[in-house]
Amino acid sequence: MNHRVRIANEADLLQLAEIHVASWQDAFRGVVPDTILDGMSVAASLKSWIKNFAAFPANIAVALGEDGEIAGFCCAGPITDGDDWEQYPFRVFALHIRPPMRGRGIGSALLDDALNRAAHKEGLNTAILWTLEALVRARRFYEREGGVLVKKGVWQIDGIALPEVAYAWQLPRASAKGSRLPAGA
Ligand SMILES: CC(C)(COP(=O)(O)OP(=O)(O)OC[C@H]1O[C@@H](n2cnc3c(N)ncnc32)[C@H](O)[C@@H]1OP(=O)(O)O)[C@@H](O)C(=O)NCCC(=O)NCCS
Repeated sequence: MNHRVRIANEADLLQLAEIHVASWQDAFRGVVPDTILDGMSVAASLKSWIKNFAAFPANIAVALGEDGEIAGFCCAGPITDGDDWEQYPFRVFALHIRPPMRGRGIGSALLDDALNRAAHKEGLNTAILWTLEALVRARRFYEREGGVLVKKGVWQIDGIALPEVAYAWQLPRASAKGSRLPAGA
């Protein structure tokens, strides 16, 4: 199925906050401590989205479900600081699909859109994404999408150290799919 992907607009932010909280509480359960997951709120997430959107409006893409609701999001964009940036100047920061809408190719369409943007709009030839080592299904997804495990690290969250891994892509990828609607569509 061809999922419609477009740049987020301000009216999307509440849905992004809802998806963010629902996806973390579902997919990260057993990996990220319950105290952190249960302490998440849509209101706090919305504040972060408002800041994030104000700073990097072009970095947030959304995929629309058949009903026109947002089914998932991907935050990705060029980076110019941190350890990796010269080798990997484009980073996928976050990719989340509403729990009931996973496994329908929506994550694949969003990742494809981000990597196409890196290659064709930004003119970059590598991209990187960090994820938690224990997220086996997400890692299988990235490996199926052609990501190559390039680094290991540790993510510090609320004083807790969680092992993480990085996947990288050489761009442009051989197969390009997905499409983007104009902002506001
Ligand atoms: C990982 C994720 C972005 C993939 O998007 P998607 O639309 O479900 O993926 P697609 O339909 O394109 O591909 C299906 C693959 O996604 C992954 N997937 C499917 N359901 C999943 C779930 N409930 N949790 C985690 N990964 C899942 C699996 O690898 C699946 O392949 P499989 O059927 O062989 O197990 C999405 O499942 C998700 O939001 N997972 C939870 C949050 C997460 O882990 N995000 C990445 C953190 S960096």
